[in-house]
Amino acid sequence: MRPFLIAPSILSADFARLGEEVDAVLAAGADVIHFDVMDNHYVPNLTFGPMICKALRKYGVTADIDVHLMVKPVDSLIPDFANAGASIITFHPEATEHVDRSLQLIRSYGCKAGLVFNPATPLTYLDYVMDKLDVIMLMSVNPGFGGQSFIPATMTKLAQVRKLIDDSGYDIRLEVDGGVKEDNIAEIAKAGADMFVAGSAIFGQDNYRAVIERMRLALTG
Ligand code: DX5
Ligand code: ZN
Repeated sequence: MRPFLIAPSILSADFARLGEEVDAVLAAGADVIHFDVMDNHYVPNLTFGPMICKALRKYGVTADIDVHLMVKPVDSLIPDFANAGASIITFHPEATEHVDRSLQLIRSYGCKAGLVFNPATPLTYLDYVMDKLDVIMLMSVNPGFGGQSFIPATMTKLAQVRKLIDDSGYDIRLEVDGGVKEDNIAEIAKAGADMFVAGSAIFGQDNYRAVIERMRLALTG
């Protein structure tokens, strides 16, 4: 398995100081910046769009930006985010009419592509698109808000997806999003995840370096 990646979600950052917050988590050892896009339509909350992603690039952020689209429809935002500097773009399969087309569109812009599954969304969407995926992300909370509790059934689903990925032979990251904390990250990794989104667990602490170090220690044992 590839090295574990820790991806702080800026949903829990101080938006008034977003550039500094991103610099701080990266300096503290984060690998990737997770960027939660909510449209008050697909999910009941409203956040930020491509302009903020572009602003972070202009500010000087060079780390990978992992854009999690919680929007419907999906396709119209893909070029905008790719041009704004997204590295990875993931979307929820039930939010687009043509899953295969949306995945191809993301890759056509040179970004990594991924599908996101809500806690109750079946994995059957994966059946014919494994060759077009760089990331599979499992939501371990219902999308829309930070600070929710990890839904335990995600553990079984993670193990199922781990097996699907391994059996496929493709190089696909297994990302988990929602309720990831210092005290459950090791168990989540054991179930098969190799990329961990954490919002409140990181931004809710004063010392970002200390919490990221404790997470990495829990991961490496
Ligand atoms: C929820 C978002 C998550 C959220 C995670 O819809 O997709 O990325 O920020 O927040 P925590 O880590 O606080 O559960
Ligand atoms: Zn997210």
